[in-house]
Amino acid sequence: MSEANPLKRAARKITNSLQDNGATPEEGIPGRPGPESPSVAEPTEPRDPLPPKPDQSGPDTVSPTGQPTGADQARMAQSGSYLTTAQSTRLYDTDHSLKAGPRGPVLLQDHHLREKVMHFDHERIPERVVHARGAAAHGVFQSYGTAASVTKAAFLSEDKETPVFVRFSTVLGSRGSSDTVRDTRGFATKFYTSEGVFDLVGNNIPVFFIQDAIKFPDVIHAGKPHPDREIPQAQSAHDTFWDFVTLHTEATHHTLWNMSDRGIPRSYRMMEGFGVHTFRLVNAEGATTLVKFHWKPKLGVHSLVWEEAQITNGVDPDFHRRDLADAIEAGAHPQWELGIQTFPDTPDQTFEGIDLLDPTNLVPEELAPVQPVGLLTLMRNPSNFFAETEQVAFHVGHLVPGVDVTDDPLLAGRLFSYLDTQITRLGGPNFPQLPINRPHAPVNDMLRDGMHQTAVHRGVAPYRPNSLDGGCPFLAGADTGAFVETPVRVPEAAKVREAPESFADHFSQPRRFWLSMSPIEREHIIAAYTFELGKCYEQAVKERALQVLANIDPNLCAEVATGLGLPAPQPTVPLAEVEASPALSQVGGTWPTDGRVIGIVIGPDGDLRGVSAVREAVLDASMVPLVVAPAGGVFGSGEGMVTVQRTYATARSVEFDAILLAGTPGVGGDAYGARDAKAFPAPRSRRPVTPASDCWCRRPFGTARPSARGPAARRSSKHPGCPSTRRAWWSVTQAPAPWRSSPVCWASIARGTGSGLCERSASERPGRRPGFAPDTAGLSYAGSRPFRRRPPRRLVTQGMTMQTFLPFPDFAASAAALDPRRLGKQRVEALQLLRGLMVPGYGWRHHPAVRMWTGYEEALVRYGLEVCCVWTAAGRADTCAGSLMTDFTAHRADVGVRTQERLAADGELPPWLGNPAFHRSHRSALRRKDPGFYAPLFPDVPEDLPYVWPASDRSR
Ligand code: HEM
Repeated sequence: MSEANPLKRAARKITNSLQDNGATPEEGIPGRPGPESPSVAEPTEPRDPLPPKPDQSGPDTVSPTGQPTGADQARMAQSGSYLTTAQSTRLYDTDHSLKAGPRGPVLLQDHHLREKVMHFDHERIPERVVHARGAAAHGVFQSYGTAASVTKAAFLSEDKETPVFVRFSTVLGSRGSSDTVRDTRGFATKFYTSEGVFDLVGNNIPVFFIQDAIKFPDVIHAGKPHPDREIPQAQSAHDTFWDFVTLHTEATHHTLWNMSDRGIPRSYRMMEGFGVHTFRLVNAEGATTLVKFHWKPKLGVHSLVWEEAQITNGVDPDFHRRDLADAIEAGAHPQWELGIQTFPDTPDQTFEGIDLLDPTNLVPEELAPVQPVGLLTLMRNPSNFFAETEQVAFHVGHLVPGVDVTDDPLLAGRLFSYLDTQITRLGGPNFPQLPINRPHAPVNDMLRDGMHQTAVHRGVAPYRPNSLDGGCPFLAGADTGAFVETPVRVPEAAKVREAPESFADHFSQPRRFWLSMSPIEREHIIAAYTFELGKCYEQAVKERALQVLANIDPNLCAEVATGLGLPAPQPTVPLAEVEASPALSQVGGTWPTDGRVIGIVIGPDGDLRGVSAVREAVLDASMVPLVVAPAGGVFGSGEGMVTVQRTYATARSVEFDAILLAGTPGVGGDAYGARDAKAFPAPRSRRPVTPASDCWCRRPFGTARPSARGPAARRSSKHPGCPSTRRAWWSVTQAPAPWRSSPVCWASIARGTGSGLCERSASERPGRRPGFAPDTAGLSYAGSRPFRRRPPRRLVTQGMTMQTFLPFPDFAASAAALDPRRLGKQRVEALQLLRGLMVPGYGWRHHPAVRMWTGYEEALVRYGLEVCCVWTAAGRADTCAGSLMTDFTAHRADVGVRTQERLAADGELPPWLGNPAFHRSHRSALRRKDPGFYAPLFPDVPEDLPYVWPASDRSR
């Protein structure tokens, strides 16, 4: 009998084609069963537990003291063939309580029942107080050695491989909340280094809400669900959040990032990571450099659009968690490059006028490029979520020699908070002994006892000094690998509960972010603010938020005000004059497509020739093919067999990055023709497309493509309709012949070269992101092979372009001629040069800018003081003049600092001062740096003269 319903017809056909044992697991498909397929009947032969799946691994099997045990990891938790109690006694029944007769009361003597239920009753531990929901993976960090000049940390030395465990998370939601909410994402990395554990506990946003950790409980209370009804879950669209961030305007910058596309990432694999704070690196000579850490994803930075994020929350709340695990299982191992921005370690700890201790600030990459120092690859999923992802304990105080902290007040609070919370969360002080937290380097502490102590210590004298245990353990020195705090000079001060004045500017950095956004990114930000504030009940909160927006940008404020139906206020502070930072925009660039999910829609009636080859091509390109059919099962037989992974009932459009139609897939039996993608439009209007015009640039996710600026993208952001209107539909059999048959076409999709833009080299593209921008653009996808881009051998330290700018022989005249940016930097550089000359072992002492002042330190200080004088005359704060004097008199206590006139009279000025070629080269360099400012000052000087580096006539 023929079946009228197409869905049922398809299902029957598939069922008929199912063969015994036909559904073998397929390579590269996520969710594969383990190495052995289970039998339908319950197994009867006792056997050992199955090993983990190939994509999984647990923590390395080391003892609590970091000793490799060589034990088989699969046996560490369970071993033997028979069910036992926790005490290893074999059991014959675990389904029935011990009773006085089958219908009688349960007996108190049932020790198995007691143990089993007791343990279950205590299976839950408190979730993290923040970042409760997360997903993690094991991997390896390979260092390039480029950071060796600025840090002695062993894990950053050349070609060192360090095992890592990385946990990604949302901040606000509880452990069971959804993944694709608008929120900050955590990006925490545990490096198991040869010198102990180093944790880099960062976020996907480079700035933070608050400047001082004492406000952390407040901002979290405001962001978490309201305490009366405990709603809303995992989101910021509510009154208490906006009440807090509008009353604490330091939160403006972070909030703006949250409202941008960064708040809804496409995938954990497509996020940047940031250490946020400024850290201090120390090299083997003891010289220090301030740095900010960055993770740059190989796959680029991509986001969802809001409608997709919301739909995904419903259809797959585990979207990010699944995406990470599936990609790893499919062999598309996610990769990030670790990079650092470097800054001179000056007493005022500012760079280009940016206070490096203020965690609401970032330093634009155009001012301080991110320099790659190593590569992270995640290649194993955890084998047990609780033991690894849930029990891992990160801490910003887990440091190794060569990496130190700064006095950022937010960081100070974190240094206290993490260990404290983990005592409650993990039930006592011995959580470092949990397998996932164990260092891989020897542990020899004097910490003893406590809940859940697993180490069996010997000896009688866990104190120092002792004689009873032979004096063990001994103390190390810096030369034997001890972590020695950097002896940073602390300025003389009184105890106060205050923030420095430099923390008071809350709007110029948000304005820079806003100005750096492309039009579509701005549209999304406006929509996000309008949505979030529209969910607030309190009028006062909305009005206050509009005031904050007015201080960022009046247009942003006006657009949101229109959406809220409120008047737009005027700014209450002068709008900051800041330059855009193109690196902040997600738009621009072409990226590999590893791990993207391709739906291949097939039907039993269609022409299925080539589907297996297409699957293989997708897999070869490190993407994940999921076969979708009206019903489940297997098509064909032998080599041409195709297994169905999703049915019309179980698949959702938001799951896929692109869809391929193989043949003429059947109409969904439950489809509603007018608006349901499962009821395909009439065949005539089905659009055969070529890879040159469609493919990734039209893929549904994200806004990172220039082509996403088009009407389709605008339509999607304005009209929350069915997202499948933006799908790329490729018809394998309807496409022109070359497209159908040529593997090249497939390769071009896989490499993300679908638009004309992609064919140009990376350097030609506007708005190119620094970091991962492989020179062959998207063509350099690496598949599951380890991606390796050799960075320059030496790190360029910020300040290596150090210089004292002397367009004139007169110090004061030179200072007066400098633009504000150069002037601010010159204070710091004069100090750096002085230290290069006077502090033994200090960096940069071989730099020509240092050498030319040799023997004329006092003249250099005079130059620095003149610069500081012009700087402060404009009402700006300065600490460099004091430092110059302190440093100089510390080494030359006998003298003060003479005027330039006096120095000239005493023959204490360097011989090159007054050399016309020298001063002309500086005028030329200044013209290069800021033509607008210096061209009118030095109209007759060309911009391309090389620096003249004169020698001193004195030696050290
Ligand atoms: C730059 C600012 C901050 C960043 C980047 C940051 C990042 C993170 C991350 C990534 C996690 C999750 C770690 C994991 O996956 O297990 C986390 C957890 C946590 N953070 Fe922060 N955080 C910041 C500020 C703070 C501050 C100021 C405090 C407290 C004063 C704090 C307290 C905590 C606590 C208590 C946890 C839970 C830790 C646990 O239960 O193991 N954080 N943070």
